Amino acid sequence: MERSLIILKPDAVQRGLVSTILGRLEQRGLRFAGLKMMHVTQELARKHYAEHEGKPFFAGLIEYITSGPVVVIVVSGKNVIETVRTMVGATNPVKAAPGTIRGDFGLEIGRNLIHASDSPESGERETSIFFASNELVTMERSVDRWIYE
Ligand code: RTP
Ligand code: MG
Repeated sequence: MERSLIILKPDAVQRGLVSTILGRLEQRGLRFAGLKMMHVTQELARKHYAEHEGKPFFAGLIEYITSGPVVVIVVSGKNVIETVRTMVGATNPVKAAPGTIRGDFGLEIGRNLIHASDSPESGERETSIFFASNELVTMERSVDRWIYE
């Protein structure tokens, strides 16, 4: 069982793509464990993207992710890290395959719409920095037997 932390970045919210992107995740059969709208503070942004500190794009990245409200989601289940990263597509939308979220809706790396955890360890770390444990739900779905064998 894995957890992936997904952020619909400020450009996705401003462009009215929240329902479209959430719909893709939901229609795929993914199970939501957390969902909220929030403004990412400078402190949270630096903590979340700590691995990129010192890189030339870091300041722009922090400015981007803190530039307006975001929607944050946790999905849980088998293989969700790879599943969601594949749906999101390559970091640079120019290189992202059609059919992926970045490949269908994005044009530039600095406006690539969505974040998704890149490993089970990042999924756990990022979930715990964005959500308190009482903000997360566990849910039994009767439909799961038609989604997972
Ligand atoms: P994310 O963390 O947002 O899901 O994106 P990612 O794993 O696909 O890419 P990552 O290497 O972790 O980069 C994080 C975000 O930084 C911005 N970026 N800009 N100008 C650049 O060369 C550059 N490289 C990365 C992007 O917004 C990327 O999503
Ligand atoms: Mg990343």
